[in-house]
Amino acid sequence: MKTLLAVFSGTGNTKRVADRMALELIALGGEADVVLIRNEAPMPAIEGYDTLILGYPVHAFNAPKAVTQWLKKLPKAEGISAYILRTSGEPSKLNDASGLTPRRMLSRRGFNVKGEFVYVMPYNIIFRHSDGMAARMWQAVEHRIPRDAKVVAEGAEALKHVNLVRRAAAFAVRIEHPAMPVIGKTFHASRKKCIGCGACVSLCPRGNIHMKDGRPHFGMHCVGCMACAFGCPEDAVKISVLNAWRVNGQYSFDGAPAEDAEVGRYCRKMYLRYFHESEDGEDIKK
Ligand SMILES: Cc1cc2nc3c(=O)[nH]c(=O)nc-3n(C[C@H](O)[C@H](O)[C@H](O)COP(=O)(O)O)c2cc1C
Ligand code: SF4
Ligand code: SF4
Repeated sequence: MKTLLAVFSGTGNTKRVADRMALELIALGGEADVVLIRNEAPMPAIEGYDTLILGYPVHAFNAPKAVTQWLKKLPKAEGISAYILRTSGEPSKLNDASGLTPRRMLSRRGFNVKGEFVYVMPYNIIFRHSDGMAARMWQAVEHRIPRDAKVVAEGAEALKHVNLVRRAAAFAVRIEHPAMPVIGKTFHASRKKCIGCGACVSLCPRGNIHMKDGRPHFGMHCVGCMACAFGCPEDAVKISVLNAWRVNGQYSFDGAPAEDAEVGRYCRKMYLRYFHESEDGEDIKK
């Protein structure tokens, strides 16, 4: 079995999980290639693959605009199996609606959409998880990937049921798609902090940042992935009206995973249930 993993990832979480999935598929005797969905990256040739895994982070209960734009350009490919792999900052069922549009778009292009996998990874906006929580999340990924990879290798079904309330909530916040280019245009680098290194330019998957007079300037193609603000070595990128939610700096996944007692109060029950279900081999309850 040969699998193509096409992945949009702002701050590395989804790429990290997709790489882990690829390793597992190879360990099961298959072949797997990971390609990134970025503006400058050519559309990968799907011929020769029998499975596509589309990876992305949940953005406001939906798939990021970069993903739906990519899907519009994806050539038709009859009979190829497709799975969705997504990451989210919390294990909320509201995030499940984020698979609906990609599912529909893939089906229209002839793909046989078979399943969806959800992995909780640390927030890259709103607030910073502790490194202990990040390590516990990674531990959960390590528990889930072997069984999810088996589902892919066997071509089994694993689609999520999304009820009307979750569909409506996701629809209501889809405003993020038209709003983000406008908000992103007002991102700027702090005069005091910016050292003009240009890292934000290469980090942006949309080619939305260019340097002028030694400082970054932001265009109208932002999808709010947070790569620039998260990856700036000086924490210099101000994200306009969202600035209070800015998260800067890579997480460490290698430390001691948080114990149950160390899981914070924010959505504590949901995180604990997700961790325990990951460890016990159950899927998140519907
Ligand atoms: C604009 C934006 C919106 C987000 N919305 C959600 C959300 O609705 N639900 C959620 O659980 N996480 C949300 N997140 C968190 C990300 O899905 C999560 O941190 C993800 O693992 C980031 O993946 P990446 O590093 O591959 O970009 C959001 C992140 C951003 C930047
Ligand atoms: S990454 Fe940060 S410090 Fe470097 S140019 Fe961009 S804003 Fe300035
Ligand atoms: S400008 Fe920043 S947040 Fe917007 S798409 Fe580029 S890297 Fe992502």
